[in-house]
Amino acid sequence: MNDIRKKLAEDWLAVDRDHVWHPYSAIGNDAPVYPVREAHGVRLVLEDGRELIDGMASWWAAIHGYNHPVLNAALKEQADSMAHVMFGGLTHRPAVELSALLVDITPEPLQSVFLCDSGSVAMEAAMKMAFQYWNDRGRPGKNRLLSLRGGYHGDTFGAMGVCDPVNGMHHFFSHMLPGHHFAPVPEAGFDDTDVEADVAALEELLVAHHGEIAALVLEPVLQGAGGMRAYSPAYLRRARELCDRYEVLLVADEIATGFGRTGELFACQHAGIAPDIMALGKALTGGYMTLAAVLTTPEVSATISGGDPGLFMHGPTFMGNPLACRVARASIDRLLAGDWQANVRRIEAGLAHGLAPARPLAQVHDVRTLGAVGVIELAEGVDTTGLQQGLVDRGVWVRPFGRLVYVMPPFVMDDADLGRLTAAMVDAVAALPAG
Ligand SMILES: Cc1ncc(COP(=O)(O)O)c(C=O)c1O
Repeated sequence: MNDIRKKLAEDWLAVDRDHVWHPYSAIGNDAPVYPVREAHGVRLVLEDGRELIDGMASWWAAIHGYNHPVLNAALKEQADSMAHVMFGGLTHRPAVELSALLVDITPEPLQSVFLCDSGSVAMEAAMKMAFQYWNDRGRPGKNRLLSLRGGYHGDTFGAMGVCDPVNGMHHFFSHMLPGHHFAPVPEAGFDDTDVEADVAALEELLVAHHGEIAALVLEPVLQGAGGMRAYSPAYLRRARELCDRYEVLLVADEIATGFGRTGELFACQHAGIAPDIMALGKALTGGYMTLAAVLTTPEVSATISGGDPGLFMHGPTFMGNPLACRVARASIDRLLAGDWQANVRRIEAGLAHGLAPARPLAQVHDVRTLGAVGVIELAEGVDTTGLQQGLVDRGVWVRPFGRLVYVMPPFVMDDADLGRLTAAMVDAVAALPAG
């Protein structure tokens, strides 16, 4: 037996610690990872039998909870006929039926679908589409992007280039990234209607640089991993108008916000706008498989298809994976079959009610909710590992990030569990040292 097999047999968590990378992790350090044995409904069951109420939906994805019988059945049925075939030169019903469904439920101008592996890859494809479009319109100089400070769009090189240059988790690589343009974080909050100052700042950049800007890239209405901040739909509406005026495409990154999370099926709908390109991921498969999609308009797809080389230049090995497509369709059908909007409103009310007691705490700077997203922003940075442990000790799975203690629970969480989740968050925050 070689060493690692022996080690695995004796202590598999030591193998995890010494050999396996986790997101943004180090090899060989003692930052705790909690071993999960199984997951069902809104509960994660740890190896030692403890059950945690899941506030994260595995990072926005598991909207129906875990181990869902309908999604399980879809996946098993598909596995029995075809787990995967290449998508180059072949096609299959799971991909085409999912694509038709996405065209049907997204804003009307979005008519063509590119299926790919993950959110970051979807953003790569979205940005390539924008560049190819302008190149094929005879404007190759439009080879820069405009994005918003406070944004997060993924970890691949192209996506890193449009994340917040300071807080976007990628400053280590900043000298290797293309110099894109960044507009300030929109200050007007979700309920504010006066967006003139924010719009003026955006327009100033477009006036100066529109000749080289292919697209404005943003997370509509809610900036997620870059700060968990909601901004005014009026800003988004005006941004759409500015894009049209200055001949810039609008790329909506709905990877986190899509599929009902903010209270509309897609966050663009808060503003009644349609982007030129939309990226979806995360909840697309109900959290079962990695899959993402990029949708665009006939104007963009016809220009690329009629240009040089007349092809969209991207094609991952696992494009259109049948298992992922089939479970995605089951997840979306499931979502649309129920009154998901009333359910998200119920969760929003539960989060607002449950997190309100955190507001007066000395440790807390702000408490905010939008749709099925609840955030406690702490006044100061804390030991997130200790806070995480405190939350686990209180029976909930919440992964604090920087000064943010935030949740986006599965939509199936009932009021009792929502009450337990929010009470544990408030209690854990109240136990932090004040000031
Ligand atoms: C808005 C947004 N865009 C893109 C991504 C990247 O998606 P993935 O982690 O699937 O690559 C994320 C992930 O958190 C995200 O929140």
